[in-house]
Amino acid sequence: MPITTCIFDAYGTLLDVNAAAREAAGEPGHQKLAEVWPKLAADWRAKQLQYTWLRAVADQHCDFWQVTQDGLDWAMEASNLDDPELRERLLALYYELAAYPEVPDMLATLKSRGLNTAILTNGTPDMVSAACGSAGIDELLDDVLSVQSVGVYKPHDSVYALVEQRFNCTRDEVLFVSSNGWDAAGAAGFGFDTVWVNRAGDPLDRLYATPDHILTDLTTIPDFA
Ligand code: LAC
Repeated sequence: MPITTCIFDAYGTLLDVNAAAREAAGEPGHQKLAEVWPKLAADWRAKQLQYTWLRAVADQHCDFWQVTQDGLDWAMEASNLDDPELRERLLALYYELAAYPEVPDMLATLKSRGLNTAILTNGTPDMVSAACGSAGIDELLDDVLSVQSVGVYKPHDSVYALVEQRFNCTRDEVLFVSSNGWDAAGAAGFGFDTVWVNRAGDPLDRLYATPDHILTDLTTIPDFA
């Protein structure tokens, strides 16, 4: 079947998850963060994701905003940053993360070709809508689909099934794009045509399925749709 529907992961794929720590590190009064921000950003992201998987396995779902705060609290303590004002600043910046530079043109090309475009994310609808609004890409997306409606995190199949329900399409009509290797593997296992955007040059995840295509950024996504 030809591709009718292009679905994107949000955090790390369209939105730069390191932007909050990087931007706060450049602000006056945040010298301590400036010394450790790459570790803070990596720990924050790693813990945020680990908590989603652990909560899914334990059947202890809570929303992604809570998981994001819990991951940040772990990461700040690991870097000896005891600073409530900085915590609030980092969380505020997470609500308005920048999109990667190639995102607006890439989405505009897909829309000009009449394709469905949407986000499928662990994030809450509030978080992702706010970030897409501040990144200026909300008009280029038909919808934001959130795990919140199924109460379990990626890579559970019930999350990927939201796409078929929303767009009334079959899984072989869907191009799914993620920079998270484990998310690309989950989507490939579900039956989507899948792109892993491997910006960091990471090794391929050893999981139960592999992505169909591997790119280093989003520029050429329209070639696969
Ligand atoms: C998301 C996370 C996995 O947006 O990046 O779903």
